[in-house]
Amino acid sequence: MSLEQLLAWIPPGSPDAALVRQLNPDLLPAHVAIIMDGNGRWAAKRHLPRVEGHRAGIDAVRDTVETSARLGLQVLTLWAFSVDNWKRPRSEVNTLMRLLKRYLRLELATLMTNNIRFRVIGRPDELAPDVRRELQAAEAETAGNTGMEFNIALNYGGRAEIVDAVRRVLAAGLPPEELDEERFSRYLYTAGQPDPDLLIRTSGEMRLSNFLLWQIAYSEIWVTDTLWPDFRCRHLLDAILAFQKRDRRYGGIKTPAVALGAK
Ligand code: IPE
Ligand code: IPE
Ligand code: MG
Repeated sequence: MSLEQLLAWIPPGSPDAALVRQLNPDLLPAHVAIIMDGNGRWAAKRHLPRVEGHRAGIDAVRDTVETSARLGLQVLTLWAFSVDNWKRPRSEVNTLMRLLKRYLRLELATLMTNNIRFRVIGRPDELAPDVRRELQAAEAETAGNTGMEFNIALNYGGRAEIVDAVRRVLAAGLPPEELDEERFSRYLYTAGQPDPDLLIRTSGEMRLSNFLLWQIAYSEIWVTDTLWPDFRCRHLLDAILAFQKRDRRYGGIKTPAVALGAK
């Protein structure tokens, strides 16, 4: 996909279309990861039960997934449920799982149309069998798609992921001297995918909350006060435009463009 694919989907002359035109197509992040936060606060502001915030959050997921695919991102990771979210009331957890199943059923056709490959990262084994079945069906159905990879982080924790990777390294009997960072990353849930270039968190919290701890070593972080249910295409475009202005140095120094002969 490409900027044209995205422009074909956005109303011409809209503010979103103007934002797309500002993007540098050669400097798109390969992988965007999002901590979808603020559903409860969105509902509280409207004097609604928290679960209404989760329900409203689905529209934001739909918009973000389609925008990302049309933009041509290689990987989009959305965090839907953490290993620590089990601490919430059982009724809230049950509603989240029901919404997830409904999302998958309703959106599978859109995932197929957009050539999106769906993958779960986390510890799905600890989810209820009916939820697992639904997830596996979506993974199987989209397995042959060759476009954007859409990771949904479910029952996900960054430390749990590292522990799971270490267990797999040990189970593989890998000699310690053969282990290095590149090799280790092949045992993570995100094996084979580039690390996130851009990490977005909604609702203003300045913390990682145990997300992708290994992979975000050099990710650019963009936090917005917008609550997740209000997040739309334009917010993602804002984040990517901000990303394109960042100076990523990876511990080195900025290379003067003039020395490279750039105009
Ligand atoms: C994010 O919204 C969704 C999940 C963590 C499942 P929250 O439910 O955390 O919303 P706030 O942070 O309480 O507003
Ligand atoms: C992180 O949000 C988890 C997800 C977005 C799924 P939380 O709302 O659970 O994180 P804390 O409690 O604010 O750190
Ligand atoms: Mg939260």
